[in-house]
Amino acid sequence: MAQINENFIKIPATYLFSEIAKRVAQHKEENPTAPIIRMGIGDVSLPLPDASVDAMIKAADEQRSAATFRGYGPEQGYAFLREAIVINDFTNNGIDIAEDEIFVSDGAKSDTGNIGDIFDVNNRVAITDPSYPVYVDTNAMAGRAGEPTATGEWTNLVYLQCNAENNFVPALPTEKVDLVYLCYPNNPTGTTLTKEQLTVWVEYAKANNVIILFDAAYEAFITEKDVPHSIYEIEGAKDVAIEFRSFSKTAGFTGTRCGYTVVPKQLMGTAANGEKVSLNKLWNRRQCTKFNGTSYVVQRAAEATYTPEGKEQVKSLIDFYTENARIIREGLTKAGYTIFGGVNAPYVWAKAPVGMGSWEYFDYLLKEKNIVTTPGAGFGASGEGYVRFSAFGSKENTIEAMKRLER
Ligand code: MLT
Repeated sequence: MAQINENFIKIPATYLFSEIAKRVAQHKEENPTAPIIRMGIGDVSLPLPDASVDAMIKAADEQRSAATFRGYGPEQGYAFLREAIVINDFTNNGIDIAEDEIFVSDGAKSDTGNIGDIFDVNNRVAITDPSYPVYVDTNAMAGRAGEPTATGEWTNLVYLQCNAENNFVPALPTEKVDLVYLCYPNNPTGTTLTKEQLTVWVEYAKANNVIILFDAAYEAFITEKDVPHSIYEIEGAKDVAIEFRSFSKTAGFTGTRCGYTVVPKQLMGTAANGEKVSLNKLWNRRQCTKFNGTSYVVQRAAEATYTPEGKEQVKSLIDFYTENARIIREGLTKAGYTIFGGVNAPYVWAKAPVGMGSWEYFDYLLKEKNIVTTPGAGFGASGEGYVRFSAFGSKENTIEAMKRLER
């Protein structure tokens, strides 16, 4: 008899965005002509940069001939992409990261979910509340989160509340933790930490032997100077942090799939006997066993985002969504909402009308306004009473949604 991993029974039966998709599909079925505007999941609406598509076509064509055909690639990613990443995302910004500290993958979702493989089940994990549900769900699947409570919180997780009262800046944990997930610019609130605020976290991690799992999937949306694009901008961060990056939101790769994780060689974990062990080596070992690399064609597409034309095209994608975020911010403010985020991120976090829960307001917006959002409660207990608006739609739809809300 094959016994299952009991932890899967403890987690909610459906993943947040699958539940939303189900409700939207049902609404569509009941109202086939409803003019639905999707501002829920952060899925891009603009096509890939031309530079990436051209690179994919060329790479696909290479697969026709034995002389240029590629089979298994390096599990860590091709040198051409790792080199482009190092130069453009780090060296050019004054950050010293080596190619063998970069692990190319199929996206930040997989990596933030899989990273738990290299950590013991007894580690105490802190997460900001609200947070991207993958951090909680994957720790729960691994048995690291303990038991779910009536409020949906987990007994072994340490929740770091981010709310209007603390200006969405999480306080340092007051109890001993081993791992902390930080996502900045933040999903779902669209808020940020300044360099000074992130420095506090790096220093805390150093002083308390904590590893920070830093999700920087939205760094391309930063518009303000004082907001770090990488945790490695902070001195000493290479001793305490793993960073996750993604081409999904930056270059429209949500369907194409490519991201990468940085595991500095000096970053150490501790074995049961007290010995220090390189996390870079463990992650490499994990990837070599469980992952055969991102496809060659896709890695060429990612590489192309770093060419001069690619950079221009990526910038216009980001500018487009940033303008949508501004439209949402201004539209919601005009309509009387209390809002947060959306300046350095493609998400705007809006307070639901007084007395209305997140899911209740989500359903109202869907049924009465034909607008899909994401209920804040889906990201954690502190998200209750909020909904998230995504700026990844078309400009036309974004403007139309704001008009509907104003009415
Ligand atoms: C979101 O909407 O939070 C993201 O699109 C989810 C993801 O990147 O997996």
